[in-house]
Parts: sequence; structure tokens; C-alpha cells
Amino acid sequence: MAKKILVTGGTGYIGSHTVVELQSKGYEVVIVDDLSNSGIEVLDSITKITGIKPGFEKFNLADAEKTNDFFNKNQDIKAIIHFAASKAVGESVDIPLHYYRNNLVSVMNILDAQIKYNIPNLVFSSSCTVYGQPDVLPVTENTPRQDAESPYGNTKRVNEDIMSDTIKVNPQLNGIALRYFNPIGAHKSALIGELPLGVPQNLVPFITQSAARVRGELKVFGDDYDTPDGSAIRDYINVVDLAKAHVIAIDRLLRGKNKKNYEIFNLGTGNGYSVLQIVKGFEKATGVELDYKIVGRRAGDIEKIWADTTFANEELGWKAEIGLEETLLTAWNWEKNIREIK
Ligand code: WQD
Repeated sequence: MAKKILVTGGTGYIGSHTVVELQSKGYEVVIVDDLSNSGIEVLDSITKITGIKPGFEKFNLADAEKTNDFFNKNQDIKAIIHFAASKAVGESVDIPLHYYRNNLVSVMNILDAQIKYNIPNLVFSSSCTVYGQPDVLPVTENTPRQDAESPYGNTKRVNEDIMSDTIKVNPQLNGIALRYFNPIGAHKSALIGELPLGVPQNLVPFITQSAARVRGELKVFGDDYDTPDGSAIRDYINVVDLAKAHVIAIDRLLRGKNKKNYEIFNLGTGNGYSVLQIVKGFEKATGVELDYKIVGRRAGDIEKIWADTTFANEELGWKAEIGLEETLLTAWNWEKNIREIK
């Protein structure tokens, strides 16, 4: 009998790629998503890739009654991967209460249900944003967290504390927080990928939409940082590599291999690339020339960050494998597919 895994936010970008990897490893997947930032057609795309249609229920996990009812009907869930959250950094500055309510209450409702229905295993989607601008690079899991630049980033940090404090007094629970660096790219089938609503805030979807002439020229936010070419540096990780790490985390919990009942892992490549290197890498990988203009820095941006991946490499036996140019090409293939560009 296949073990049943709940993936919240499973029709979203990282969630859908993780559902594909879970199904490919023989897990039964049920998705809960409120479709506020993704489309129901993603279920068909997942099914086309794996041949298996995931279970699906549409509701928001900040709704305590609906969340309780769902878990009451699904007490055979063996583990939860929680992606569902509002995630636009800039928007979070404008509507902080929505972000705190949506992102924090959903985690509390899930933890309540885990205790009530004895569903011990939780993998939480966290972010390198909890490190702010680190004083020392690369960052390890012991690098001190700093005040986030945005309410979005703060919800990630507070949710880690909600999880760890709850687990401390409920030792039957086991949790893993995965701190993503910058997820980019798409599944090689080009059937799933990143499709932000409105104007993309993130670099790579803006690049692919600009290359597809859906957007104008790319604005490079600052070239006066203390970096080799002046533009800001990030650790860009392929979304399929990231998804595979989630399956490894689920396996770890289900096999009782976790060494503590609350663990944290950085999920990055260990390499930092600047915005201009991403632009050049995209042009080289795709043959498409990008129009871009250097403008002022974006408020809230940090200068540079990349991961020390030793702990995840050694403890999880996981390493990012797909290179930058191959990843950028998958992002472009996805964009061409949704825009029906040959
Ligand atoms: C990357 C670099 C920009 C757009 C955020 C969140 C993080 C995660 C990923 C959700 C920066 C520059 C961008 C553009 C640009 N979010 N840039 N022109 O800000 O590192 O991380 O998104 O899970 O938690 O904090 O990612 O892609 O927005 O920016 O020059 O049009 O690209 O200034 O240096 P970021 P990003």
C-alpha cells in the first residue's frame, strides 16, 4: 500500500515539481491548494508527466474548520510537505496582515491537526531569506538568522520558531525545515514551471518573459554592489534538484533516520552567480539576446548570499546536480511552451 503524502500548495511552482518526484518514487499524493496563485490545469500536467492523477482538495489552510475536517477524513496521511503560502516579497510589504495571517495561521492549523490526528511528520518550505545579509559567506545552517527585509521573509523565520517550539513540547512530532536559496528552471518536459501572476518579481521568470516579448527590457537592479561585476549575487538552484531533496527528507522521516526531531537544511548549489552572469548564461544557453538596462538597487535586496551545502550533502546524501545553463534552458523551454513559441 503506497504511503500517502499531503503536499500543500502542490499546484504551485516548487510544489508541482515535488509532487512529480514523490509520485515517481511510489508515494500516493494528495494536494491541498486554494488556487490563489496557481491553476487547476497543473493537475493535468502532473498527470501527463507521471501517469498518476494526484488527489486534490481546494481550500485555504488558514481556515481552521476546513483544515480540521480535511485531516479528520485523511488520518492515513504519513507525512506533510507544506508549501502553501503567500510568497511575493514586495506585496508582503504592502499587506503585512494578510501575509502574517495566511502564512502563520496555516502552519498553526497544520500542527494542531498533526497532534490531534497523530500525523507526526512535517517538512516545511523555508527560505535563505531568514539569513538576511550574512556577515560571513557561504552560509551554513548555524549562520545566525537576521531580521528579514520583508514580512514575507519574517513569516518564514517565525514559522520555523512555531514549528520548533511546538515540536519541543510534542516530541512525537518530527520536523524538517528546508531553507531554499533561489529556485529556478522547470521540468524537462516543459509541462510544469514557474508562472507568476502579473509582472514577475523574480529574476528568471522576468528574463524568460522578456525573451518571449511578453515583457519589456529587463531592469538590472543595481551594479554598484561590492561584487566582481557590481550586480548582486544569489545561489540559483534547479527546481527539480530542490524537489528531489524533499523526497529525501520525507524518506528520512518515514524511516526514522532523523537525528533530532527538528532539523534544518540549506538547499543550494554552493555557487553564487550575479544578475549579469545569469543574463549572460541565459543568452549562451538559449541563443536569445536579452535587452536589459542597469537601474538603481531594489529596496530590500541583499548584496550577496550563497550556501554551504556540506550538511545536506553529508546528512541527506543530496547534492544539486543540474547546471546553471541547462537550468536556464529548461526555464526558456517552459516559457516557449506556454507562449506557443516554436
Ligand atoms: C534575484 C536577484 C534582484 C528581478 C526572493 C525571496 C526568496 C524567494 C526567491 C520565494 C536580485 C535581481 C530581480 C528583476 C533584477 N522567494 N533582479 N531584476 O529577491 O533573491 O529572493 O525570491 O520563495 O525567499 O526573498 O530573488 O529573483 O527576486 O532576485 O535585477 O527584474 O535578481 O535584485 O539581486 P530574491 P529575485
